[in-house]
Amino acid sequence: MEKETPKISLTGIKPTGEPHLGNLIGAIRPALNLTEQYDSIYFIADYHALTSIRDPKLLRHYTRSVAATWMAAGLDPQETIIYRQSDIPEIFELHWALSCVTAKGLMNRAHAYKAARDQNAAAGRDDLDAGVNMGLYNYPVLMAVDILIMGSDVVPVGKDQLQHVEYAADIAGTFNHLYGDAYEFKIPQAVVPQEDTGRTLPGLDGRKMSKSYDNTIPLFLPEGKLKKLVRRIPTDSTSVEEPKDPDSSSVFQILEQFATPEVIADTRKRLMAGGVGWGELKNQLFEVLNEELTPMRERYNALMEPDSQLETVLSEGAEKARDRAQNLLGSVRSAIGISR
Ligand code: ADP
Ligand code: TRP
Repeated sequence: MEKETPKISLTGIKPTGEPHLGNLIGAIRPALNLTEQYDSIYFIADYHALTSIRDPKLLRHYTRSVAATWMAAGLDPQETIIYRQSDIPEIFELHWALSCVTAKGLMNRAHAYKAARDQNAAAGRDDLDAGVNMGLYNYPVLMAVDILIMGSDVVPVGKDQLQHVEYAADIAGTFNHLYGDAYEFKIPQAVVPQEDTGRTLPGLDGRKMSKSYDNTIPLFLPEGKLKKLVRRIPTDSTSVEEPKDPDSSSVFQILEQFATPEVIADTRKRLMAGGVGWGELKNQLFEVLNEELTPMRERYNALMEPDSQLETVLSEGAEKARDRAQNLLGSVRSAIGISR
């Protein structure tokens, strides 16, 4: 029975920066692995990015870049659906309908909004809502719509997004309570990929690799630049001869995510025995990374060309997604009493 109605997994990616190694390990790979278990749907949350990105060229670039990155990393558009959020106008109609059944208090308690207010308080501002636009405030309702309009069963997210998925379930519950006789939303569930629970890739300053810290190794750097950045990963002052603790080394932690189990075990042994310098380890990491990233970089660069198949893939994805969205929105409209 499970086979006849496979469950749906939905992944949304906000196009706000250049993809880096941490995104690949913590988000892209785990979400792509879900295709074995679920019918997977991926979308680029370009309207979500508008809460913070005001440069139209940059927004367009990041949006294409996210699609190209996921396809370069192995997303197969024949097996899954990938679309741009902005290509599905039904999302924005449902957003209004669900806003009308969502308590304002729920939004007041949302982490991102609360964090913005806390920052204003800490800066001594009288207006705690300074710098908060309505997009940021309404963000959780729009995200709930993204999830509900595709009939998603599971939503793979990082820990920071858990509250948003709970809100989606909450909002669906309220709607079902009011209109459940006519239409019932599926109640979605968050899935936190294992990586997110402990495997955080360190960046160029030893802290978590993150675009907010400006310490990332971007995925698609030319070879020479990749080598330079690997050389910048911090190490301690242990001499070549001295034994080293692999687990406290950022270089080793990154290597662990990309090398084969045999290479990892062998490197671990050699580091602990002494006689391997940090320079040698960095060379090894560069080689391993470059081998893995070169074919991805080539696919990415080809997809980023203006006349690549990217647009076709996204339009075809949008067509499939709109079919689903129109069906669902039709049922909602009739349930709530809005009809043509
Ligand atoms: P950033 O921290 O660079 O702003 P995002 O917050 O946009 O990255 O994260 C997008 C996804 O990538 C999230 O699911 C997050 O868990 C994952 N991710 C980001 N950085 C790392 C990292 N250093 N290690 C593991 N996963 C990461
Ligand atoms: N808010 C998510 C983030 O910042 C992106 C996102 C938007 C999303 N809509 C979604 C994720 C729906 C999953 C499902 O990362």
